[in-house]
Amino acid sequence: MWLPRPVADSAEPRSRSRRFSAHYATNRRGRNLDSIQEKAGSSKTEITDEVRAIDQIADKYSEDKSALIQILIDIQDKFNWIPKIAIVRVSERLEIPISLIYQIATFYKFFKLAPRGRHLVRVCLGTACHIREGPKVMEAVERALGVEYGDVTSDGKFSLERVNCLGCCALGPVMVVDKDYYGNVKPMDIGKILAKYD
Ligand code: FES
Repeated sequence: MWLPRPVADSAEPRSRSRRFSAHYATNRRGRNLDSIQEKAGSSKTEITDEVRAIDQIADKYSEDKSALIQILIDIQDKFNWIPKIAIVRVSERLEIPISLIYQIATFYKFFKLAPRGRHLVRVCLGTACHIREGPKVMEAVERALGVEYGDVTSDGKFSLERVNCLGCCALGPVMVVDKDYYGNVKPMDIGKILAKYD
């Protein structure tokens, strides 16, 4: 049985976020996948700019089935997430069942199957940060953004996620916006931190 090459960066299995669960709930119950598969089998995907971009990525790897994970990584780099149309189109181009691509994309936490905001906010709720009031920091961020973790703000500006350790426990509680780390964060700091991002 064919299996894609594993990639070190995406080796950690996904723990499902609330946002992810909501977005793909029907798929997890096995409903939408069947209809997507039928649709893909009965008619070819309409060629849009989005599909052309996906084709360029598939072309780069000469439609090599063993490059599936790398193709998904490139698609995520391009769109900032993996839209459903990408799964359908990759299935057509590589002749791999949609259900298998979906299984792989959902297994690796690295892959994002729901739209992400322009800025990614991650709040650590690992043990060290938790005992240093990480949950209060999370509540303050949720209040400031008007969303719960796992969600994207309605203007598409911020995605909010929780993480279990960012590797700098001594600085807890820690939050990260994109690549900027903030340590010893207090709930009252949140507004000032978020205001730095357009
Ligand atoms: S527990 Fe938060 S950085 Fe390690």
